[in-house]
Amino acid sequence: MDKIKIKEKLELIDITKEAPDTEPERQYYFMKKASAYVKKLSDELGRPLKACTVTFGCQMNARDSEKIIGILETIGYEITEDEKADIVIYNTCTVRENANLKVYGRLGYLKKLKKQNPNMKIALCGCMMQEPTVVEKLRTSYTFVDIIFGTHNIYKFAELLWTSFENQRLTTKKTKAKDRMIIDIWKDTDKIVESLPSERKYSFKAGVNIMFGCNNFCSYCIVPYVRGRERSRNPIDIIREIELLVADGVVEIMLLGQNVNSYGKNLDDPITFAQLLKEVEKIEGLKRIRFMTSHPKDLSPDLIEVMKNSKKICNHLHLPVQSGSSRLLEKMNRHYTKEKYLQEVADIKAAIPDISLTTDIIVGFPGETEEDFEETLDVVRKVEYDSAYTFIYSKRTGTPAATMDNQVPEDVVKERFQRLLDEIQTISAKRSKRMEGMEVEVLVEEENSQDDTLVTGRMSNNMLVHFEGDKSLIGQLVTVRLDECKNFYYLGSRVS
Ligand code: 5AD
Ligand code: SF4
Repeated sequence: MDKIKIKEKLELIDITKEAPDTEPERQYYFMKKASAYVKKLSDELGRPLKACTVTFGCQMNARDSEKIIGILETIGYEITEDEKADIVIYNTCTVRENANLKVYGRLGYLKKLKKQNPNMKIALCGCMMQEPTVVEKLRTSYTFVDIIFGTHNIYKFAELLWTSFENQRLTTKKTKAKDRMIIDIWKDTDKIVESLPSERKYSFKAGVNIMFGCNNFCSYCIVPYVRGRERSRNPIDIIREIELLVADGVVEIMLLGQNVNSYGKNLDDPITFAQLLKEVEKIEGLKRIRFMTSHPKDLSPDLIEVMKNSKKICNHLHLPVQSGSSRLLEKMNRHYTKEKYLQEVADIKAAIPDISLTTDIIVGFPGETEEDFEETLDVVRKVEYDSAYTFIYSKRTGTPAATMDNQVPEDVVKERFQRLLDEIQTISAKRSKRMEGMEVEVLVEEENSQDDTLVTGRMSNNMLVHFEGDKSLIGQLVTVRLDECKNFYYLGSRVS
């Protein structure tokens, strides 16, 4: 919804009445209440109130943060990247243990900032907050935190913030900080609240959720426990959102879901992801379509066909393999074998010969032997990925893999991890060379951070190219010749 419509909506709300029970009306009511409070405080202080949202983790979290920022802006905060702000929100990730440790580390810094600014609010949300042990630790040892909420009730942020303002007003200095802390975590939900405000990091590209949650329960993964069961948005809502984005200048969208290939299965009128793509393709003015993430077990021939025939779907498929060993894939609960995966890759390459493939790989899953690891290297060599996200297995309490025998010693994992990185680098360097001299269409995304005579464009296959240009090109599709390959990016020159 655009800012003018939001303003009109807010004007119609009477905050002297009781809060409505229906959503999203209830949240607009609390946005209006909170905005009156923020305005009053800002007048008292003689400066605007500032809000900073820090995002950890994946594209889903990045999208959730845009929704939080949209709510904060509507309430009247000025958005900043500086944590010396009047409200700081950490949108956390818990997919690997070190993501959790990072958050605890940074909370110490926020505590110091809060001492300098007693009005400051600290809010934590996201996947890590869905873990009861984390919340208990925060409740008892991090009492300066004001609001804790989870992945299922982000839409409720305005209400939680308003309640926190009220708590502060109604309690005396003697009230223990921990009693003022607001904790609202839901185990799961089937609710999807539409039509709330949302900010966008870029004016020309946007992420669009098509589904939430995951039903796959890969044995190492905590996501299904913290993001709940799979639920798809209605295609009508998705299409309407994209149409509005395009009307607002967006040319590229990324359809987001933990497993987009199983989109639509739980809808009253089930539709497939391939069918959804066909509908999205029809949107006039939209130039590029990306999606993330595809599970190999659900990759359908229909999807390959739609990708092949589409003029808008980008030339890139992210297809996480996790391991090349069929034995480990079974223990991972992935529902495919090495052979099936390689067959899918062969089918995709046959249909779209110059497709760019990327993947996720875990090294050191419990019981991984040298032979298993060799199978992973074999897949990497056979598929020839353009790039790969590689992860050292991280034990997540509550997942089946955490209690499996034969956890692999750290030194063995590190050595394998380095070998994998070397292999991927060699292959992707060789792969990218093939495009030198070609002319490609790129979407210009930003000025180069190191050299302001250059801009950076993204190719359809998701690779980056730096070339001479100024910021007036940002958001435009231009043609660039790839002059020199630098392994993970190119240097180029603009053709038209
Ligand atoms: N340890 C290491 N990597 C993991 N991933 C998910 N869970 C774990 C874990 N416990 C990786 C997978 C997934 C990506 C988003 O994160 O490769 O595809
Ligand atoms: Fe985790 Fe597997 Fe779901 Fe991906 S598909 S989020 S790895 S459980």
